[in-house]
Amino acid sequence: MGSVDLKTEIPGPKSLALAERRKSAVVNAHVSVAPIYADSAQRATISDVDGNVFLDFAGGIGALNSGHRHPVILDRIRQQMDDFLHVCFTVTPYELYIELAEKLNEITPGDFPKKTLLVNSGAEAVENAVKVARYVTERPRVIAFEHSFHGRSLMTMALTYKEMPYKHGFGPFPEDVLRLPYPYSRDSLEVVHYIRALHELLDEAGAHTVAAVVIELVAGEGGFMPANREFVVELQNVCKENGIMLVVDEVQSGFGRTGKMFACEWYDLEPDIITLAKSLSGGLPLSAVTGRAEMMDAVHVGGLGGTFSGNPVACQSALGAIEVLEELKGSGRLDHLAKLIPQRFQAIRKQSRFVSDARGIGCMYSLEMCDGRAEERPSKKKANELLNRCLQDGLIMILAGTDGNVIRTLMPLTISDDELEEGIAILEKNVRTLES
Ligand SMILES: Cc1ncc(COP(=O)(O)O)c(C=O)c1O
Repeated sequence: MGSVDLKTEIPGPKSLALAERRKSAVVNAHVSVAPIYADSAQRATISDVDGNVFLDFAGGIGALNSGHRHPVILDRIRQQMDDFLHVCFTVTPYELYIELAEKLNEITPGDFPKKTLLVNSGAEAVENAVKVARYVTERPRVIAFEHSFHGRSLMTMALTYKEMPYKHGFGPFPEDVLRLPYPYSRDSLEVVHYIRALHELLDEAGAHTVAAVVIELVAGEGGFMPANREFVVELQNVCKENGIMLVVDEVQSGFGRTGKMFACEWYDLEPDIITLAKSLSGGLPLSAVTGRAEMMDAVHVGGLGGTFSGNPVACQSALGAIEVLEELKGSGRLDHLAKLIPQRFQAIRKQSRFVSDARGIGCMYSLEMCDGRAEERPSKKKANELLNRCLQDGLIMILAGTDGNVIRTLMPLTISDDELEEGIAILEKNVRTLES
């Protein structure tokens, strides 16, 4: 028997009972993809309350590149539980915050002095990057892209592109967010168009009014589209020439997901600020803003921080997660996965007229689903059908894309060969049966 072990129909009786309790206690808006309730998890599998075991290709939305409950991480967390859980860095500082900041300053792209602020969530990291950029430049405006997702706080909702469900009814938003088309294209004519749009926007708005450009190098929620390299090079030059801070949001693409520690490495990019969260900390809430020391340090004393920012248990977990990911990189395993996953997904693409594209970088790979007709219209329906069929076979996955039609994979990178093959076999089988 493989990793997947289904004991009852999904959802089983205990999950159904929890779903009933949930209805009267939990807000409707906080929705869940899978109708099953988790009981325990290990490496790349999740067991539910009815004893079913699933392969996890969602990884807590990309927060578990180092896998569920890695022993290196658990040892560090246990050690910290014996010392202290929280004292607040603002009140009584501790070495772990410094150690993690030193590590992030060392491993993030950019051969220049850096400094790090630790906070709690991806959204909070992006908020703080914008605060620093506005403070340093004394300019109000921020440029974001179509198809981007940067979080659910007020500023990050303003930066985020998709109206429903992320922004609808929650305005008014902070002003001064300007929008550019996301530079996803393999067509050089289109790239000229994107570069022209960048220059036109800066001419129109006045480059001297723009504090920062915030970009994901692989649009995550937007549908796993890699940014065009030529555009990114031009963007970096334009930012430098005009004193605009380049903020790269690697909340989803960071920590090995693309096959390199950071997606910036595929682009030889050295951003002024990088925002990090999710797989930074092996499953505990923590995020980081790492950037050029002179910029990060410009803000007045007390202007940045927070009660739980840089929580010591989360710092221990992060140091463990980074150790695990560096080992995966050093052993060549990360490279292996980053080549294998795109090959397997490209092969699946060819098997069905309902798959219009397979794209991404390395282990950040996806299948774009369409209606199967000649025009290949985006089909959220087909994507949901595939997702649900896979779940019934024991594979957990999630969707992405502005049209909600992209199946994305964010499996733990500590996954075994057998688990990976089993998950891909479930996906292949169900892509084939979509035809019927
Ligand atoms: C690129 C990116 N930025 C920011 C966020 C927001 O992170 P969080 O949900 O931790 O606030 C996400 C979450 O999916 C993300 O993918």
